[in-house]
Amino acid sequence: MRADIVDVIDARVPLTKAGKDYKARCPFHDEKTPSFTVSSDKQFYHCFGCGAHGSAIGFLMAHDHMEFREAVEELAARVGLVLPEGAGAEDEPQEAGNELLSVLAEADRFYQRQLRKHPSAQRAVDYLKGRGVSGEIAKRYGIGFAPDGWDNLLSALASDETRRTVLLRAGLVVRKASGGYYDRFRNRVMFPIRDTRGRVVGFGGRVLDDSEPKYLNSPETPVFHKGREVYGLDLARTAIRREKRALVVEGYMDVLALAQFGFDFAVATLGTATTREHLHALFRLSPDVIFCFDGDRAGREAAWRALETALPTMQDGRQVSFLLLPEGEDPDSLVRKEGGEGLATRLAQARSLPDFLFEELQKQVDVRRLDGRARLAELARPLLAKLPQGVLQQMMVQRLAEFSGVGADRLSDLVVGKTSPRASRSAPGSDKAQLRKPPSLVRTAIALLLHEPGLAQGVGDTSDLVALDMPGIPLLLLLVDLLKSQPGLTTGALIERFRDSEYRGAIEKLLEWPHPALQRELNLEAELSGTLEQLRKALHAQRTDELLRKERLQGLGAAEKAELSRLLAERQGFGAG
Ligand code: GTP
Ligand code: MN
Repeated sequence: MRADIVDVIDARVPLTKAGKDYKARCPFHDEKTPSFTVSSDKQFYHCFGCGAHGSAIGFLMAHDHMEFREAVEELAARVGLVLPEGAGAEDEPQEAGNELLSVLAEADRFYQRQLRKHPSAQRAVDYLKGRGVSGEIAKRYGIGFAPDGWDNLLSALASDETRRTVLLRAGLVVRKASGGYYDRFRNRVMFPIRDTRGRVVGFGGRVLDDSEPKYLNSPETPVFHKGREVYGLDLARTAIRREKRALVVEGYMDVLALAQFGFDFAVATLGTATTREHLHALFRLSPDVIFCFDGDRAGREAAWRALETALPTMQDGRQVSFLLLPEGEDPDSLVRKEGGEGLATRLAQARSLPDFLFEELQKQVDVRRLDGRARLAELARPLLAKLPQGVLQQMMVQRLAEFSGVGADRLSDLVVGKTSPRASRSAPGSDKAQLRKPPSLVRTAIALLLHEPGLAQGVGDTSDLVALDMPGIPLLLLLVDLLKSQPGLTTGALIERFRDSEYRGAIEKLLEWPHPALQRELNLEAELSGTLEQLRKALHAQRTDELLRKERLQGLGAAEKAELSRLLAERQGFGAG
């Protein structure tokens, strides 16, 4: 049972059947002949005229100006479901997910054991002590230690090649270009990242000194999405409900320090900007979210980005506020310096979202001048338009009217009436240069999988391609992995799966520009396997070049020589290419 995209759209834009798809005149641009198509198989709509496209959820957001959660609820209601608190954005990682989750749990136990038992663990223990982390907090947050060395985890957890691939897919090991694997996390204090159900889905690791990179996080995997996970939320959830507020900070160490000082309702984003999914996860527990950022330029910018992300989620009754710390301080250093009371006082003075928004904008204009006030209205208008219609939006419009001297009625028309679907569409179809760029191999493969997710079932092992140094390879491999573990995913479902991910932009672009083969309905399976074969050739060439260069510069060892002559012999086999 599902809410079919055809029914959802047909209720708003009457569709006519055309082959196995449906057509209509596009609701997002003016046209005489219908180029707007809806596919039931793909659960996807696409306009060949203006490039608008997306899932059923995306359609409701663009056409009915719904907010994400609202759109999900609307779809659930169509099939007679009422979403429980907390449902909606979550999808269950399935079987292949379980394999990853269980190896991640083993790794978690391994790292924690090393912190207690490993001969060199004293350095890590001293480091944590030096930072003031109590034993109790370290235990509560499951802090561990990845000892120095290339294969501590590998030799403890992976007995054979199959297991090594599982470790690879879980992001715990890295594959060498020459084949073989090594531990991703070495000589680091380990922070397990758990989902809201308490299952370890990834790790962050910190160096013990000032080497680089300071933090290393797990890569995106089928069970780990940085745009979704909130560090510490599993432990903080009861406290957030009790306190009726959530405190969002930037660092792992901040969360630990705050918890130690009694601020057990603190959580962190994982070195990424705050996403809507993060906010939804928090708003499920409490209507009040406080962001606490460092007082430097970066912190101020991060706060502004968080504000922009929060705007569309500000349904009536929700509150977001911002606390910027003095320059040079972060929550960890501040709470240790000023104590719990100091921080509590500051928290009480956090600026509300409307205050923060207007204060920041007023810094950019001269409100004593008429044109400055007009400019203020211009700057604020698109931001207020992002707010859901309701009391908060009205109040902010009122306030803008007072500041700017522009009449409230006129402003309200401008703000509320100005959200055209064109503006809310993410990828404008006008970017023709982008569309005409010849397809790279990787983009072709990704586009094929996005449009025909079922193709992934026929794809063999692709883990060797990890070594290929080309843009897009991580996304391609992630897609293959994901589609193999969740064979039912449609194009529409994929869009939703990546809505808050770093790959969203790339995916939007590739969907916007349909692969010619898809339009001509060629043998897509052959098309994909041909593309993958080309990628293998490229990998082959990359490795050959690597070895040839090394031979020139420093000479090769015996194994490398053998590898090179094998590669060169195989190259003959590839023919002229
Ligand atoms: P320390 O107090 O020095 O341990 O760090 P912090 O917790 O104050 O972190 P900082 O404010 O420097 O960075 C905030 C968060 O950004 C960290 O918790 C990480 O999640 C992330 N981060 C920081 N440095 C890096 C880095 O070098 N690489 C990556 N991937 N993430 C980082
Ligand atoms: Mn810090």
